[in-house]
Formats: sequence, structure tokens, C-alpha cells
Amino acid sequence: MTEDATIVEPGEERESFEELVKHTHSANELDTSAPPVLTVENLRMYFPIKTSLMRRTVGHVQAVDGVSFVVPKGGALGLVGESGCGKSTTGQLITRLYKPTGGSMTFEGHDLASISNREMKPLRRDVQMIFQDPYSSLNPRHTVGSIVGAPLRVHDVVPKNKTLSRVQELLEVVGLNPEHYNRYPNEFSGGQRQRIGIARALALQPKLMVADEPVSALDVSIQAQVINLLQDLQREFDIAFLFIAHDLAVVRHFCPEVAVMYLGKIVEIGDRESIYANAHHPYTQALLSAVPDVKQAATGGRRERIRLTGDVPSPIDPPSGCRFRTRCPIAQEICARHEPPLLQIGKRHKVACHFPGRLGEHPREPLTARLLGVDASGQPDPGASPATDLVEQPGYADTWFDLDGKTIGRA
Ligand SMILES: Nc1ncnc2c1ncn2[C@@H]1O[C@H](COP(=O)(O)OP(=O)(O)OP(=O)(O)O)[C@@H](O)[C@H]1O
Ligand code: SF4
Ligand SMILES: [Mg+2]
Repeated sequence: MTEDATIVEPGEERESFEELVKHTHSANELDTSAPPVLTVENLRMYFPIKTSLMRRTVGHVQAVDGVSFVVPKGGALGLVGESGCGKSTTGQLITRLYKPTGGSMTFEGHDLASISNREMKPLRRDVQMIFQDPYSSLNPRHTVGSIVGAPLRVHDVVPKNKTLSRVQELLEVVGLNPEHYNRYPNEFSGGQRQRIGIARALALQPKLMVADEPVSALDVSIQAQVINLLQDLQREFDIAFLFIAHDLAVVRHFCPEVAVMYLGKIVEIGDRESIYANAHHPYTQALLSAVPDVKQAATGGRRERIRLTGDVPSPIDPPSGCRFRTRCPIAQEICARHEPPLLQIGKRHKVACHFPGRLGEHPREPLTARLLGVDASGQPDPGASPATDLVEQPGYADTWFDLDGKTIGRA
């Protein structure tokens, strides 16, 4: 570790989410045989920046830039990363609040990225969203019955005279009193309001739920209750989740697979074990080291926190090469010259770094140089033959680059 990273003593310990959930619900487990419900490939969203006077486009915010992943049927993929890295935009693209700049999102044989709004309408039943803020996401002038019943009316799924009884069923499913359907959102607590938002998202029995920070506005004890509820619903109705969150302890519990984003890109993705006990990207290692609950496993028993220096660069003009290089404690010359490919380094583990390794065990030479056809500093190597298939694919291949043996691993 160079002096760019400052090691500090552990600070602000907080009440443990893990403690609160462990006596009620075990962590969700990965079903490796589940087929994909959603396959996202090379997804991009560039928001145009316009001048106020002539409405000329003068640049783009590269909010999501080439993201690929798979959400398995009935499974849960966690999306984590600092504020502004593109998590919500990714979720909003999947629910088609925005039409993406490029890439594909395959759901049930349809490419959600390219279909028209009219074609999207019936699919909206299957792809629902839970929002972060239970205060602003519910209309204060509408009753709970009207809020939860709205999707039923819009999609005309139950006869009019059955809407109320369906709403009451849904309220019961999420642990609310079904007789409270005629109350207004301000008569409920934050946790209860989030349950109302969940009932609304559940009304159409979706196959995929995008949950954008569903518990981060709640107290930790309420968080545990709402996560337990989401787990129950997921198991009962076989709903797949794209689960967006800051809190790595919550994500570890709910998501058997996790993708780590930085400045619009996925820098590491893998199953729970690969990310929490075997992270190979310096950014993931720094994120994990800041969380008391997961720190010990992530840092191999070391209790230090890795504090990243500097601000996150602007997504309007991201750094060349590796976007994390301006804050990376182990960056070298090649990092500014070449973007590291998202390399599969385990059965269910990919990392985008020229120097992937466990904390304190990063190699001195870039492991990607040969693949890219360059020398250790990133200059073209005339004798090398670069790999041609470095385009990022969603999911995992049967073979991978085994870092320990420097060989090809096989499933
Ligand atoms: N409609 C928009 N127009 C222009 N830029 C946008 C728009 N929506 C988001 N952005 C920008 O895209 C980037 C990614 O934003 P996004 O909301 O997806 O981040 P996030 O990871 O969800 O952050 P947070 O953790 O704070 O919710 C940010 O730089 C943001 O300012
Ligand atoms: S590629 Fe370089 S800058 Fe990027 S994370 Fe790896 S070492 Fe750091
Ligand atoms: Mg967000």
C-alpha cells in the first residue's frame, strides 16, 4: 500500500444489522441452476448536457457506461457503490423510466432497451420498482387503498368490485392492517409507508423487482423487519431482485451475488464469498474496509480502514484508462493508458483491474498486459498478440483466468 491511502483506526461502530436479522431469517442462498430472468449487456446511459439558451448539447453525463450482468430467476443481484456511480440510473433503465443510449436488456425474450413505450406497457406488470424514500414516493393526497389499487386499475387485472378486497389482501401480505385502506400516508410510520410501497409494487405479481435503496431511509431495527418481509415475499412469489443499496451488510444478507459500480462501470462482480471474503479490486476492498460488520472478512482479519483520498471524478469527463486511478492506492502507468477488462478470475467472480489480488497481495506486474498486447507500462508491445475476445459478456464462462496458478481454471 502506498502513502496515497491513509490507514485509520476503526471508528463509528453501529448497531449490527446482521445481529438483528440472524435470529429470524438466514441469508438468501444462490441457486446456480436458475435461468436468467434479466440479461443486461453493455448498457449505456449518457445524459445530454444542454446550454440554457440555444439548447445545444455541449457534453454528456456518462451515468452508466457499458454495464453487463445477469439477474437469475427468483434470485437477487446487489448493486453497490458510492453516491453518483450510476446505480439508480441502471435501475431506472430496466424499468424504462429512461430509454438507454445503447446496449440491451433481455427480459422474457424482449429487449427492454429497444421496444416502444406501447410494447413496454404489458411488461411493466412484470417489472416493478420499490423506491428509496417512503415519504416522497407516496402521494400524500391519496388513500392507501387508492395507492395500492392504482396498478390494479391501470392494468385492469381485477374486476372493479374486487379491487378493494385485493388491496386488503396485499396490505395483509405486507403486514399492515387491511382495515387501514382508507387512511392517508401521513398516518403511517416510515417502515409502514415502505410496506405500502412494497404492496403497490407487489400488486401485479411481478417477476422482477428493482429495489432502489429500499431500506436506507429506515432505522436499522426497522430495516431488518422490512428485509425479512422482502425475503418472505421473494420466496413465496419467486420474485427476482435487482437490489440497489449503500449498505454492504444489508446487501450481503439479501443478495447471493453482488456487483460493485464505480463511475458508471462495474469494477467487480461475483457471488457473496468472492466479493465479501475474496475481493480483488482495490475499490471493493476500500468499501468493505469501511463497514464494521463485514470488515474482518474483507480485510483478512485486519482491522484497518482504507480511506480513499480525493473526490469521485466527474462522469462528464471521466479519467482515461481505469476510472478509479485518481483515487487508487496502487495505480501505475498502465492504469492511465488502458481501461482494464472485466476479467473472469473465478467460477463466479470477475474483476476489472490490471493488478487484481487479495488485499496486500496485488501483483507488481500488470496481469492484463499480455491480453492487451502492451508492455508493463502500457506501451504497445510489438511482439505481443492481444486477445480479441475481451468484450464484456454478461454472466460467467466455464473457463477463467486462474490468478493463483496463472492458468486457465475450469468449472
Ligand atoms: N436525469 C439526469 N440528467 C443528467 N444527469 C443525471 C440524471 N440522472 C442522474 N444523473 C447523473 O448520473 C450520475 C449517476 O446518478 P445515479 O442517480 O444513477 O447515481 P446513484 O449511484 O444512484 O447515486 P446515489 O447513491 O446518490 O443514489 C450522477 O452523476 C447523476 O448526477
Ligand atoms: S487498474 Fe490500476 S487504477 Fe484501476 S483499480 Fe487496478 S490498480 Fe487501481
Ligand atoms: Mg441512487
